[in-house]
Amino acid sequence: MHLVLNDEERIIMVLVGNPTEDDRRPPEQQWQAIFQRLSKKVEAERCEHVATFDTRHRRGVYSVLSFGLSYGGGQVKLQALRLSATHHRVAERLKSDKDLQRVAGFQSEILASYFPLAYQHLRTAMRKLQAHDPSFVAPFSHSVYAAGAMNFGPKTCCDAHFDMENYPSLPCAITAFGNFNPNKGSHLVLHDLGIYFRFPLGATVLLSLAGIRHGNTTIQPGEKQYSFTQFCPGGLMRWVAYSCCPAKDFSICQCAQMDAEAKEGWKQQLGQFSKVWDLDEDRAWVREQEHLEPI
Ligand SMILES: [Fe+2]
Repeated sequence: MHLVLNDEERIIMVLVGNPTEDDRRPPEQQWQAIFQRLSKKVEAERCEHVATFDTRHRRGVYSVLSFGLSYGGGQVKLQALRLSATHHRVAERLKSDKDLQRVAGFQSEILASYFPLAYQHLRTAMRKLQAHDPSFVAPFSHSVYAAGAMNFGPKTCCDAHFDMENYPSLPCAITAFGNFNPNKGSHLVLHDLGIYFRFPLGATVLLSLAGIRHGNTTIQPGEKQYSFTQFCPGGLMRWVAYSCCPAKDFSICQCAQMDAEAKEGWKQQLGQFSKVWDLDEDRAWVREQEHLEPI
């Protein structure tokens, strides 16, 4: 486990190696087996539906399928991301996959542990959404994240980019798996920070993909690299802040006032990243909020 801090000693990134095994679990439920099975299933889906993916996009050349809640890009309201019938079936298989559910839950746990204030902010927003419309549900029942994306590769190599559509103060989670030598490729590169990291199979990283420019190095010939990410679309928080109405219904002054009331200014968003010395206190505050909230 490694933490990356900014100059205010706020945690801006968490690198989690392979999760610690619980030896009491049967071998088929241990992480290595989970990632082996996931790699086979993802590769099978990719091979079957390769013709349906647009593999050329601004991030790189590989197949990707996003699913979950979405707002923006022409959508006039918050809704489940619209998919073709084929991709809808693939997304449903992914969401019901026990192995992927465990990865999704693990990512959400890391978010709660190291970004407790951001976790609580999203959790509160998701509760408000569900109160407004019960159909607004997260893709995975054990994860707070509103959306997910499976990168089918087979070489998930990204050029330097920001994911501008993501909510910046909610760190996204990325877990890598497949069949590659992490000493020779798949390194995570943070161009503006001037650093890069080894990103081995089964490792998970959390960082703001909207706030930190990132990419990763290619892998060796014959290898395959997939990754699973969870994130929150920025439009979702806007939708909640504006009482589940589109921004065009309000004047600029009204939007600014609602942003302030919803604590969505940039200073308040930066404040969602805990200072490392306040982490225990922030975790305790979140536990207290969970205790206070109605079940
Ligand atoms: Fe990205």
